[in-house]
Amino acid sequence: MTQVRAPLVGAAVRGEFPICERSTYLNSCSQGALSRRVRRAYEEYLDGWDEHGAAWEHWVERAEAARAAFARLLHAEPAELAVTTSVSQGVSGIVSALPFAAGERTRIVVSEYEFPTVGQIAHAQELRGAEVVHVRPERDGSIPVERFAAAIDERTALVCCTTVSYRTGHRQDVAAVARLAHERGALCLADSYQAVGSVDLDVRALGVDFVTGGTVKYLLASAGLGFLYVRRELLERLLPTQTGWFADEDIFQMDISDYSPAADARRFDAGTPPVPNIYAGLAGMALVEEAGVPAIEEHVRELTALLIDGLDELGATVVTPRDPARRGALVCVRSTDVGRLVEELRGERILVSMRDDNLRIALHLYNTEDDVDAVLGALRARRRLLA
Ligand SMILES: Cc1ncc(COP(=O)(O)O)c(C=O)c1O
Repeated sequence: MTQVRAPLVGAAVRGEFPICERSTYLNSCSQGALSRRVRRAYEEYLDGWDEHGAAWEHWVERAEAARAAFARLLHAEPAELAVTTSVSQGVSGIVSALPFAAGERTRIVVSEYEFPTVGQIAHAQELRGAEVVHVRPERDGSIPVERFAAAIDERTALVCCTTVSYRTGHRQDVAAVARLAHERGALCLADSYQAVGSVDLDVRALGVDFVTGGTVKYLLASAGLGFLYVRRELLERLLPTQTGWFADEDIFQMDISDYSPAADARRFDAGTPPVPNIYAGLAGMALVEEAGVPAIEEHVRELTALLIDGLDELGATVVTPRDPARRGALVCVRSTDVGRLVEELRGERILVSMRDDNLRIALHLYNTEDDVDAVLGALRARRRLLA
């Protein structure tokens, strides 16, 4: 008889995350919880360093393992993935490959929900001749595809459409925006930091050209490791001028006489890989893969539905869309004094975060209905701080 394995979510994985024994951890949109496994991975890195000194061959192999793990999570090929230290590195790499010169496409379209780094990097390209066009939301916080349609034209080089808004929890219709960008000859980037690990992302189904993110949040690891997916068909024509020796076609040739980038997406790597973060990242991603992103997504969808129902009962203003297809793992609630609310919840060991006037409650594989009940109970007692 085949045994049906219970999904590795909720109570089944909580023991891996010591913080869940002490706190109601609802802050994965800022930083995923530390697991025993990720802590051990750091120790393993230190032990190896202590034992072998410079284990470069092994460390480079670990970087390749991270590339492969990112590829699996996105349903892409490892040759389409660059291993970066941050989203910022990935986005800077992309724009460094775009000319923005007279006679070329010079516009970058950015949605209102881009993370600051994306908007700032776009505006930095004004120094190179680019022009930035912002796409603003409707009053209800959504950004309909028509708004992108009004902003994208034959002058557009790149459209930046984040998958899930870090400010409101809106999930954008990346596939529709990518289609639109392509119809008009532009490229499309989806910063998916707030999605990867909690939303099953299939780069082919999305049809985007670039996807970026990192390991700090739903991939359960630490700062200093990210990825950039580049659609295979684009690689030949994109030559990043932001580069480094780990992007060279032959890293160990140590040749200073020319620029010869790798043929695959490694051309978007840069300097020495962030080895300790790679150890942590591999451990975090292994946990996510063992649970399975579709199972995590389903678990999170059930918990967010319970949370939103409870918030509705409290008469709270939920900023995040109710339609499960239009949200990810983040639920945002309007507050009259969000700084105070976050602090008061912290006093009850309920860890959440804030952006603008919104309380951010983020659910992940280790959360349970008890966590949802705990935060709803604490909010019920502070109804005065909800708008
Ligand atoms: C949507 C999104 N993009 C990017 C980042 C971070 O960018 P970077 O890796 O460059 O620090 C974050 C959070 O830190 C984020 O929420």
